[in-house]
Formats: sequence, C-alpha cells, structure tokens
Amino acid sequence: MDVQRTIIEPHGGKLINRELAGIDREEYLEKCKCLSSLTISKWIISDMEMISNGGFSPLIGFMAEKDYQSVLKYMHLANGLPWTLPVTLPVTKEEAKSINAGDEVALYSDEGELCGVIQVEEMFEYDKLEEAKLVYKTMDDNHPGVKKLFEQGDIYIAGSIFLVNRPSHKPFEEFYMSPNETRKMFNALGWSTVVGFQTRNPVHRAHEYLQKTALETVDGLLLNPLVGETKKDDIPADVRMESYQILLKYYYPLDRVRLAIYTAAMRYAGPREAVFHALVRKNYGCTHFIVGRDHAGVGKYYGTYDAQEIFSQFEPKEIGIKPLFFEHSFYCGKCMNMASLKTCPHSADDRFILSGTKVREMLHEGITPPPEFTRPEVAEVLIKGMKQKGKG
Ligand code: ADX
Repeated sequence: MDVQRTIIEPHGGKLINRELAGIDREEYLEKCKCLSSLTISKWIISDMEMISNGGFSPLIGFMAEKDYQSVLKYMHLANGLPWTLPVTLPVTKEEAKSINAGDEVALYSDEGELCGVIQVEEMFEYDKLEEAKLVYKTMDDNHPGVKKLFEQGDIYIAGSIFLVNRPSHKPFEEFYMSPNETRKMFNALGWSTVVGFQTRNPVHRAHEYLQKTALETVDGLLLNPLVGETKKDDIPADVRMESYQILLKYYYPLDRVRLAIYTAAMRYAGPREAVFHALVRKNYGCTHFIVGRDHAGVGKYYGTYDAQEIFSQFEPKEIGIKPLFFEHSFYCGKCMNMASLKTCPHSADDRFILSGTKVREMLHEGITPPPEFTRPEVAEVLIKGMKQKGKG
C-alpha cells in the first residue's frame, strides 16, 4: 500500500499546477502564434515556472493590485494567507499601450522562446519607492533588489498564467524536481519530517553544521540551493553545484539527503525573503526550514537575526512549516568543534570566521580557506571552478 507519509499541506491547501501538457499544450502552441506578445526577463521566467509547478502555491499568476498592496502592507495575501514578497510582472508604459484587461498575451524569452501565456486581469501603476521601503527596508539603489526594482517597467500586469514550455535547467537538469516530485520522493524514502536548506553560497562548515544539527532530529535533508538569478559577485551556480556533489559524496549519509535545485531568483530581501523561502519549501513538502544568521541578506541592510524575528509576526499555524533558528556558527579552536554564539564560551580569537567577501577573494586568488572553514575537497572544486571562470 502507498502510505502517505509527508503530511504537510501545501500553502493554501492545494498544490497548484499551471503547466500545460498534452492536447492543451498543443492547442496553446497554435493559439500563441496569433496572440500579442511580450518579452520577459529571466527573473520573470523563473517566477512563471515556480507559479506553474506549484512552488509558489497558492499563486496561480502574477499578483493583482489587491494582493500586491496587501502583501506590501500586511505580509498577507488579500485572502488572509501569509505571503511576504510581491510576485509581479512589470512592463514599460510603452509595452502596456498594446495590452488590455481581458487579453491573453504570449510571453517569450529574450531569445525568442515561447514560455507561456498570461490572461490579463488588470494593469496598475505602483510606487517603486514604497515597494523598496516595505520589501527591502531601504531605498538605496546599491541594494541589488532595489536596483532591479528601480530599473524595471512602471506598470504591473496581473493575471493567471500557464506555462507552455518549461525553461531549460542545463547543466543541472537531473537535479530539477517539481514540488509534486519532491513530495513523492519524500514519501518513497519514508521521510515524514524533512528539513529544507536554502543557500546561494557554497556549503561551508557552518552551513554543514546547521544542516547536520537539524538532521539529528528529522528524517531527511533537502539541500535546495538557489540556481536562479543572483548578483554578479556571488559564486556561479555551476561551480557551486559541483561543490555540493563533492561535499555530499564525502561527508553526508546519502540515504538521509537529497540535492535539488531551487530555480527562483534571489531577491536579497532578508527577513521577508526568509518567510517566503520557508513557505515555498513547505510547498516542496519540507516540514522544517533552517534560518541562520542574516538569511537572504546582503551588505548591512538587515540585522543579524531580523530574518528570525520576523516569524514572530505570524501564527505558527498560518506558516505551517517550522523554522529552525540558528545563531552565528563557526569552528572554535578551543572547543575543537563546530559551535555557535549560543554554545561556545570562547573569544573571537579562537573562532574561524571569514566574511563571504573574504572567502570569494581567497578563492579567486587560489588560496585554500582553512579546513575548519571549508572542507578541502570543496575548496579544491571552488578554486578550480573560479580559475576556469576567470579564463572564460
Ligand atoms: S542565503 O542568502 O541563501 O540565505 P547563505 O547561503 O549564506 O545565504 O545562507 C544559507 C543559510 O545558512 C541561511 O539560513 C543563513 O542564515 C545560514 N548561515 C550562513 N552562514 C551562517 C553562519 N556562519 N552561522 C549561522 N547561520 C549561517
């Protein structure tokens, strides 16, 4: 008998599927030839995919003004469900001129590939400064999320979408799984509790410590690195993916961990993105989600634990997935093991702490970070990868 072990409900109770298949897809392939069209960015394509595969459940399309305003001001959708980030489709005023509410518009990548269709319900102007202030907590355009927001079109078009062609995830296709597939996989593995781990970085010893500490109390770990758009100086996804595989091979119990890509773009929205990340991982079937220090942060825009504190603004029941909070972690020479500010009584001099910027500098210069910070096998892959990028 097929026992349903992973019992966590998707956000809103139902896993959305807006990916066309079979005859429906054939029909739309034909229909799209006659529809008006729009070119959309990689970011929007990745959002379309996440909506259509259920990762962004309960969303079925790009937000209408009512939801958008409610998310900005109250961190809930208009129907009362928690949701912390806008998921919107910006167009320029020029582009908006040829679109009307009620239209179906075919959406293409900038390489001319058909992605899908939006059924336009409404179009609205929005206040970029307000969105920046409320979502990113800054109006400084040095913040990568704010910069992006300021550069995008002034009108949002809203409506439900269908995905006609799933974007390619080469070279990580084998690590792509939809929420429906991860849920089935957890069931097949017999995992009833699963901790999700988000990262846009290589997995260093501190990350490993959080994951394994969590794994002590749950059945399995979903290592779910973000491979969508990131800022330029983050380590490229292909180099990271290789490093994750090496790390798992040498240091993880393979029956307790699965690696799957998270294809959305990085927003760098700190606390609001931490809640968003947790809700999305709930859709993938995770029951727990790790939030460490400065989750989804960038520069000094957010306090070290803001991304944990934000969860207290919600009822645990309405979030559903359980966030696991960790304090700043590191290797301590005196403890002679991994520890955190909570568990280590020693001084800063005993701790191996390197900033992300420092580590990237070291890797670029071919310097291996100490084994207390990064596993040697991982460092080797990263240095080799960065060297190749440098040549390219
Ligand atoms: S993120 O932008 O994807 O959140 P990152 O890859 O740095 O960035 O972190 C992944 C997760 O590990 C986040 O939850 C983050 O808070 C946590 N984290 C990273 N480094 C540490 C650390 N040294 N101590 C505690 N938590 C950490």
